Amino acid sequence: MKWLNDGERMRKLIAAQRANRSAVRGQTGAGLNALVLGGGGREYAIAWRLARCDSVTTIDVIPGNPAMSLFARTLDIPIEGGRLEQHLAASFIDLVIVGPDELIASGIGDVLRRTGVTVVCPSREAAKLEWSKSFAKQVLREAGVPTASFRTFPDAGAARAGLNEGPVVVKADGLAAGKGVVVARDRAEADAALSRSAIASGPVVLEEVLAGEEASLHALVDGETVVALPPARDHKRVGDGDTGPNTGGMGACSPTCVLPDAEAQPLAERLIGPVARLLAERGTPYRGVLFAGLMKTADGWKVIEFNARFGDPEAQVILPRIGGDFARLMQALGDGHLAAHLRARPLRFSQRAYVDLALCAEGYPGQPRLGDPITIGDLPDDVWTFHAGTRRSPQGGFVTAGGRVLHLVAQGDTPAHARDRAYVAAERITWPGRFYRSDIAASEGQVRITP
Ligand code: AMP
Ligand code: GLY
Repeated sequence: MKWLNDGERMRKLIAAQRANRSAVRGQTGAGLNALVLGGGGREYAIAWRLARCDSVTTIDVIPGNPAMSLFARTLDIPIEGGRLEQHLAASFIDLVIVGPDELIASGIGDVLRRTGVTVVCPSREAAKLEWSKSFAKQVLREAGVPTASFRTFPDAGAARAGLNEGPVVVKADGLAAGKGVVVARDRAEADAALSRSAIASGPVVLEEVLAGEEASLHALVDGETVVALPPARDHKRVGDGDTGPNTGGMGACSPTCVLPDAEAQPLAERLIGPVARLLAERGTPYRGVLFAGLMKTADGWKVIEFNARFGDPEAQVILPRIGGDFARLMQALGDGHLAAHLRARPLRFSQRAYVDLALCAEGYPGQPRLGDPITIGDLPDDVWTFHAGTRRSPQGGFVTAGGRVLHLVAQGDTPAHARDRAYVAAERITWPGRFYRSDIAASEGQVRITP
C-alpha cells in the first residue's frame, strides 16, 4: 500500500518537528498537533501510525521513549498537577490518544475532556470495564453477552470459603499488571492463587474455566456506534507452546485464522454492541477503543475480558493494517462523529499480514536485566523496530531498559511469510540475554486474507 511507503512524508514530518515548532503550530489549516500518552511499544506504534497521516503536523509523546524522537517530540512532563493541561494549551494540541491502562483507570480521559481537547480515551466510569472485573462481568451478564459463569467475593477469605474441588479461574478484581489471573487446576492451586499478593489484597472473581482458542477483537466505540478493527492474536505466556508465566504479550499476528477479518464486525455487534448500548443507557457511554479478549469455545465465542485501550502488542500489528488517515479517524472517534466520518470515508484494511515479535531481556516477566547494549544489524526497510524498553547510552546507541525491549514488526503476503521475515530479522538484533518465543504465529499457516 502506498501510504506505508512514505519515506518522503516521514522526512517532512521530522523536518517540521525539528524546525521552529511555533511556526507550524496554531496556524489555521496547518493540520493536527497530536499527543500520545505512554512510552511502550503500543505508544510507539500509535505515534508511528500518526506520523503516516497527511493530516498530522506534529506529534508529541509523554513520556515516550528515546527512539520515538526520530519522528516525534518526547517530553518528560508530569501528568498530574496541571502541567499536562498547560502543555495542551501551549502546544496547540488538537488530539490526545492515551495508551496505558493505569492512566486510563485514573480518570485522565475525564480530565482531558474538560479542557475541550479531542481525546481518545474512555471516561473513568466507562473504563471500569477494564479496572473492575466484577463490574465487567455484571455488565456482560446484564447485556446478555456470553461469558464464563462467575461469582464475586469481597475478599480472598470469602473466595476461599467458596472454592470447590475442581478447576477454577481466580481473578483479582482490579488492575494487576498481568499478575491478577490464575487458571487453577484444582483447589490447592486456587488456594495458593488466593494468597498471591496481587490477588489477596482486594475483591476477587471466581470463574468457570473455558477452553478454546483466544483472539483479540478491538472496536472503535462511540456511544452506540461499534466499528471492528482487524482481529489479532496475542501470545501471552513467556514460553513456546504457551508455557510458563503470563507476560504483557510475547508477540502478535493480524490477520489470524482464529478470527478471520470478515467475522469481526458481526461479532463486535453481537458481543460489544449490547455492552455499549447498556453503558449508554446508564448515562456512562463508552467513547474510545474497546478491546475484547475472546475465546472460541465449543459453545461459540465468549468474552474473557475487556480492556479500555489498544492491546500491546496487538496495536503493533493492527495499526499498520488500518488504511486512510488514522489521525482523522481517531479525531472522529474522540469527537463523537464516528458514524458520519465512516459514511464519507469507509474504513479499509491492508490485505497484508503483520507479525510482531517481542524481543525481551533476560529475567522477563520477572526482574529483567537492564542496561545491556543493543546491537542492531541491517534490516529490510519494511521490517520495523518499535522500541518499548530502550534508552540511549552515553555512547549514542541503545541499551535495554525494560522487559519487553523492542518489537520487530514484519509484513508478508501471509502470516507465515511475515513470520519468517520477523524471525530472520530477529537474529540481527542482539544483546546479552536477549530472548524471544520461537512460535509466534506458528499455527497461522498460509491463510490468505479475505477482504
Ligand atoms: P485476563 O486478564 O482476564 O485476560 O486473563 C488472562 C488470561 O487468563 C486470558 O488471556 C486467558 O488465557 C486466561 N483466562 C482468563 N479467564 C479465563 C477463563 N474463564 N477460562 C480460561 N482461561 C481464562
Ligand atoms: N496484549 C494484551 C493486553 O494488552 O492486555
